[in-house]
Amino acid sequence: PRNATRGDDGQVRLAGVGVDELVSTYGTPLFVVDEADFRSRCADMVAAFGPNGRVHYASKAFLCTAVVRWIDSEGLHLDVCSGGELAVALHAGFPAERIAMHGNNKSVEELIAGVDAGVGHVVLDSMIEIGRLDAVAGERGVVQDVLIRVTVGVEAHTHEFISTAHEDQKFGFSLAGGRAMEAVRRVFAADNLRLVGLHSHIGSQIFDLDGFELAAHRVLGLLRDVVAEFGVDKTAQLSVLDLGGGLGISYIPSDDPPPIDEVATKLADIVATESRLLGLPVPTLAVEPGRAIAGPGTVTLYRVGTVKDVPLGSGASRRYVSVDGGMSDNIRTSLYQAEYDVRLASRVSDARAVVSRVVGKHCESGDIVIRDCWLPDDVAPGDLLAVAATGAYCYSMSSRYNLVTRPAVVAVDDGHARLLLRRETVHDLLSLEVNE
Ligand code: LLP
Repeated sequence: PRNATRGDDGQVRLAGVGVDELVSTYGTPLFVVDEADFRSRCADMVAAFGPNGRVHYASKAFLCTAVVRWIDSEGLHLDVCSGGELAVALHAGFPAERIAMHGNNKSVEELIAGVDAGVGHVVLDSMIEIGRLDAVAGERGVVQDVLIRVTVGVEAHTHEFISTAHEDQKFGFSLAGGRAMEAVRRVFAADNLRLVGLHSHIGSQIFDLDGFELAAHRVLGLLRDVVAEFGVDKTAQLSVLDLGGGLGISYIPSDDPPPIDEVATKLADIVATESRLLGLPVPTLAVEPGRAIAGPGTVTLYRVGTVKDVPLGSGASRRYVSVDGGMSDNIRTSLYQAEYDVRLASRVSDARAVVSRVVGKHCESGDIVIRDCWLPDDVAPGDLLAVAATGAYCYSMSSRYNLVTRPAVVAVDDGHARLLLRRETVHDLLSLEVNE
C-alpha cells in the first residue's frame, strides 16, 4: 500500500493505524484496504486515459458497497459479470448507465435484470446470447446497447488459466473463421440491439505491452472489415473500443509492470491513427482494470500459530510457518503459483533471516500462502505477518473450505479504521441449513 510505514515501536502502520490495534479490534485473518491507495489508483487511471478514454473497474477483483461508492465518486464505470455483482452495484446506488455486463453465460434472469436496470451496455459473447438478449430487449420495448467481444488470438504470456484471447478457450467470437464478423452482421440485423463497439480482453497480470498493442491492431482490423461491408457512416456508431483489463501489478520486488501513462499513450495512439485512416471518428478507448486498482493497496494480516522445521534429509530442513487462514482467503498461490511478499508486521527482529514457507490451516499440503520467503529466525506463535497486494482476487475468490469462516475486511484512511465486511461466524455457516 502507498500508506504503509513502520512505527517507532516496530509495528507496521497502515494509513496511520497500527496492526496491533487493527487485529485487537477486528481479529485475524484480516484484509486491510488502504482507501486512499485504492482511490488514487482510480484517479491515476482516469488521468492516464484522459477525456477520450474510459475506465471501467472490474468488480470481480473485489466488490462491496464501499468499493462501489469509491468507484462512483472517482468517476469510473463499473463492469459486472454476474447477477450478484450487478445487485451489489445497484444496491449501493451506482448509476446503471455506467454499468457494463460481462460473462460468457449470462442467464436470462441476469440479462433481464441488466436490461430492466438500464445498464449502459452488455458485452455479447455468443451467437445464442445475441438472440437471447434481442428477445429480452424486444419484450421490454427497449433497444439495448451492446459490444461484441472479439477473440483476437493473442498469447498474453501469463498463466494459462488467466489468459483468455488465444483461440482454444470459451470467451468471445474468434476473428478466425469470420465468427466475429458474423456476430457484427447478426447484431446489426437485430431489431432490439444497437452495436456501439468492440471488446477484447487478452488475459491478466500482463507486463508486456506487445499483447495489448497486437490486440488493438486486430480489433481495428475487424473495424476495417466492418467499414468495407457496411460503410463508414454505419460503422461510426461503433464508438467504443474496449481493450479489457489485465494490467499487471507488482506482487514481489522483481515484478516490473509498465507505467500506466505509457500504456495509455501507446494504445490511444494506435486507436487514433488507425481509426482516422479508416475515415472514422476516433472511438473512446475503454479499459477494464481490476487488479491494478484493487490489488496493491490491500494487506492480509495473519496470526502465526505454529512454526515447524521439517527435516528434508542430509541435514537440511524446511521452516513451515502456519497462519490462521490460507487457501480459503487466498487461493492464488495454489491455483496459479502466485508469489507474494510478506513481512513480520507486529515487531522488528534482529534475528537472521531464514527461508520459510508460509502455509495455511487447511487440510491440504497444497495450502501454501507463500512458497519461499525470508522471515526472521525467531518468528513465533503470536506474531503477525502482513502479506502485501492481496486486494484483488483473494477475498473475491474466497471459500469456506473446511468450514473456515471468511475474514473481515476493513478500510483504513488517515488514521481511522472502518469495517467494510464483518467476519463470518459459525452462525453464517448454519444459516444455510434447512433441516435442523
Ligand atoms: N475484463 C474482463 C473481461 C475480464 O475477464 C477481466 C478479468 C478483467 C477485465 C479484469 O482483469 P484484471 O485487470 O483484474 O487483470 N483470478 C485471476 C484473474 C482472473 C481474471 C479474470 N478476468 C487471478 O487471481 O489472477
